[in-house]
Amino acid sequence: MNQHTLASSAAQPVAAPVSHAWKAFNGTSTKGVLGKVLALEDFEPLARARLPRCIYGYVAGASETRQSWRDNCQAFEHWGFVTRVLRNVAERSQATRLLGRTWASPFGIAPMGLAALSAYQGDRVLAQAAAQANIPFVISGTALTPLEALVRAAPHSWFQAYLPGEQARIDALVDRVRAAGVETLVVTVDIPVAGNRENNIRTGFSTPLRPSLGLAWDGLSHPRWLLGTFLRTLANGMPHFENSFAERGAPVVSRHVERDFSRREHLDWGHIERIRQRWPGHLVIKGILSAQDALQARAIGADGVIVSNHGGRQLDGAVSPLRVLPEIVQAVGDLPVMVDGGVRRGSDVLKALALGARFVFVGRPFNFAAAVAARPGVSHAIELLQAEVDRNLAMLGVESPAELNTGFLRPLGA
Ligand code: FNR
Repeated sequence: MNQHTLASSAAQPVAAPVSHAWKAFNGTSTKGVLGKVLALEDFEPLARARLPRCIYGYVAGASETRQSWRDNCQAFEHWGFVTRVLRNVAERSQATRLLGRTWASPFGIAPMGLAALSAYQGDRVLAQAAAQANIPFVISGTALTPLEALVRAAPHSWFQAYLPGEQARIDALVDRVRAAGVETLVVTVDIPVAGNRENNIRTGFSTPLRPSLGLAWDGLSHPRWLLGTFLRTLANGMPHFENSFAERGAPVVSRHVERDFSRREHLDWGHIERIRQRWPGHLVIKGILSAQDALQARAIGADGVIVSNHGGRQLDGAVSPLRVLPEIVQAVGDLPVMVDGGVRRGSDVLKALALGARFVFVGRPFNFAAAVAARPGVSHAIELLQAEVDRNLAMLGVESPAELNTGFLRPLGA
């Protein structure tokens, strides 16, 4: 594929007024580029051409050998569908109830840090496309946009926290999230320490980004991103990690400033209990892979868990969420169990639901969609997945996701 042609036909961001000069530079044909995107996976090569190597690597990457990342996708191939026929499926709906709301689809957008480096106002783009489609969007604890602004732009967004190491700072963050009017707090618990993402070191990516000749060249050799995302963002001031604590965190580019990850390895279930006492809204624990931990979350009063290995970005070799999903569902009974990791197709969504997930979340493809074509790109991605879910429901012989169960699946090659 000719990368230059693809990149030059990509869309302009829509989140801010667009000048004629900017349009001329960036190309106007969102339709043109999106016409080539027939499935979520089609976004990745387009995003790769557009993004600097270090940013693409940060999004696409995983830890060490990428074993968990690979198996997250392959786990879906282990299952085949048993279809039912001639069941009049004309009145289909994929609307799904979860945590007090009815969403248009049984999937949402997973929290992803630094999305504002993939696309101009990337967090806002994702939040607004999700809100327009009535699917949940999870604001990241490492977003570069204050959670308050995102909740104003998309009021039913969830917020995902990485817990600070000290109780007083956890309390202050929870109070801030509450004051912002967030309905659902997701606490990600699979990062006692940072994962070993060697690819970030190889490509020169770090948080904060450290100015260097290599980084400058990476930006200069992707002028569309440099002007359209990075410099355009800097024109509004240096972005900071806005949602790590009650107060503003480190700037995203700095020669010397270090981010504060101190004392995270001290966190335990007692901290979650304390959050439960302080937080009146829905509480979801993300990063669960064992039935015992899911039971513990339920015992503490969590309203749901997200079975996840962080998209293969933490412990390499960690089991794929889909493989442990059935035992977790069986253990926790009625507690809503959500899952993420490797979901790329409507058929993946439906396999996860048939195995007992109440809902699924998708990460990287939506980030790439924002990089390629801003909000229209994310909306296109949502529509593609919705169309696949709808078509596959019909071919499975059901009218709603709630009708699915393990009877619709057989292990392949077993
Ligand atoms: C993530 N993920 C993540 N998770 C989280 O709880 N907080 C975060 O800030 C981030 N940041 C983040 C950034 C990027 C670029 C990626 C790709 C992922 C993990 C994310 O929420 C989710 O668990 C995985 O992305 C799901 O896997 P897929 O759909 O990307 O395969």
